Amino acid sequence: MSELRYPDRPLADEVVLLRPWAELEVPAALLARGESVDQFEWPDEASITARAARRFFLEQEEARRRGEELHFAFVEPASPARVIGGGSLYAIERGHGRASVGYWVLPEARGHGIATHAVRLLARHAFAKLEIARLELTCGPDNEASQRVAEHCGFTREGVLRGHVPYRGGRRDTVMFSLLAGELLTP
Ligand SMILES: CC(C)(COP(=O)(O)OP(=O)(O)OC[C@H]1O[C@@H](n2cnc3c(N)ncnc32)[C@H](O)[C@@H]1OP(=O)(O)O)[C@@H](O)C(=O)NCCC(=O)NCCS
Repeated sequence: MSELRYPDRPLADEVVLLRPWAELEVPAALLARGESVDQFEWPDEASITARAARRFFLEQEEARRRGEELHFAFVEPASPARVIGGGSLYAIERGHGRASVGYWVLPEARGHGIATHAVRLLARHAFAKLEIARLELTCGPDNEASQRVAEHCGFTREGVLRGHVPYRGGRRDTVMFSLLAGELLTP
């Protein structure tokens, strides 16, 4: 599939602005994500070397060129240098009109609608520019904040994928939500 381009004008509203990552931000971002997202098994701090972070950055870029992923840093519109979270459209299958959305927000920036606004912006972009017809959102069954974000954006809870991902030496379930074109909820 063809390369995905970042939007000419950043995806933004009054609450959050989504912009590409700068390569130098990636090690700190990986650490912050690992510390603040307790839903998956991330590499531990010691293994996030500058080299590994650069490889991660390059892999994201390669996935963008393959047309599979588009990653964004979240910033406040008035402070574009200070990253407060991140998110992506990933598992993009344009031939099937499907993609997934993922996101995280630093603990100190939570509770102000950052994730809800960012997911709305990502969803709008996916439907309007990437010919996506079905957007999937997954999270752990006890991740109530993430499920609230999904509901605020109009996603439908479809069910539970049992034993879906490795977690803490075992496996955990995943809740599957989806949003179809035309279902995006905005206040
Ligand atoms: C999920 C996450 C991204 C939400 O970010 P955020 O910017 O705080 O989200 P918002 O402010 O848009 O909305 C959060 C909603 O969850 C609610 N919420 C927050 N913590 C909660 C909790 N512990 N239990 C129940 N609801 C909670 C908030 O009240 C809000 O709902 P409301 O507007 O109806 O009051 C953030 O908590 C996070 O980064 N968590 C770790 C990563 C993660 O789980 N990512 C999700 C994909 S796996």
